[in-house]
Amino acid sequence: MTVRVLVFYGSYRSDRMGIRLADYVVAGLMARGGDVELVDARAVGLPMLDRMYKEYPRGEAPEAMERLASKIRAADAFVFVTGEYNWGMQPGLKNLTDHFLEEWFWRPAAIASYSAGRFAGARSAVLWHGTLSEMGMIVISSSLAVGPIREALTAEGKPTGAAGAALDLAFPRFADDLFWWSEAAKAQRERKAPPY
Ligand SMILES: Cc1cc2nc3c(=O)[nH]c(=O)nc-3n(C[C@H](O)[C@H](O)[C@H](O)COP(=O)(O)O)c2cc1C
Repeated sequence: MTVRVLVFYGSYRSDRMGIRLADYVVAGLMARGGDVELVDARAVGLPMLDRMYKEYPRGEAPEAMERLASKIRAADAFVFVTGEYNWGMQPGLKNLTDHFLEEWFWRPAAIASYSAGRFAGARSAVLWHGTLSEMGMIVISSSLAVGPIREALTAEGKPTGAAGAALDLAFPRFADDLFWWSEAAKAQRERKAPPY
């Protein structure tokens, strides 16, 4: 069963580093047979939250929001690549995520955190776990934690050094766990329509 996975990344910084991890995750999941797409919040360019997608009359949401809603609904699983600003979430990714709600329901989500330091964005990962659960996703227990990001991955998203080796070691279980839940949720959605 091929699963459709969206990988979300949300730094708007010119010198952003987390794109390395996003690229690594996309390539790794594709190599394992996933149908995978990167969703770069900066490229999508949603405004600061005014109306949620569902608050627009049908067919009247801005085009980028409409397109993304369709992609989320068509997906079987999500990966959130989460950096950390001042022990918190990156606002660009949180802003994009908050535009949707029901579109996320009944699907697994995985968290891949990173930071410039050795805590690897662990504090933002904890925050995202609660948020994604609240938004109707099943947050899988396997996660990735990458730090220091600059030492773990090259600009092309290739693992380097000890931190890169640790990432390569953790990735198979992360991917297997995500695919297992993706297939389980997809099969259940096909067997029985979600109640709401
Ligand atoms: C505003 C700001 C706040 C930051 N706060 C933290 C932090 O609390 N913990 C941490 O480990 N790194 C922190 N950093 C360093 C980031 O982990 C590092 O810059 C990382 O590359 C940010 O992700 P990005 O490059 O994808 O934007 C911070 C960076 C910025 C720009």
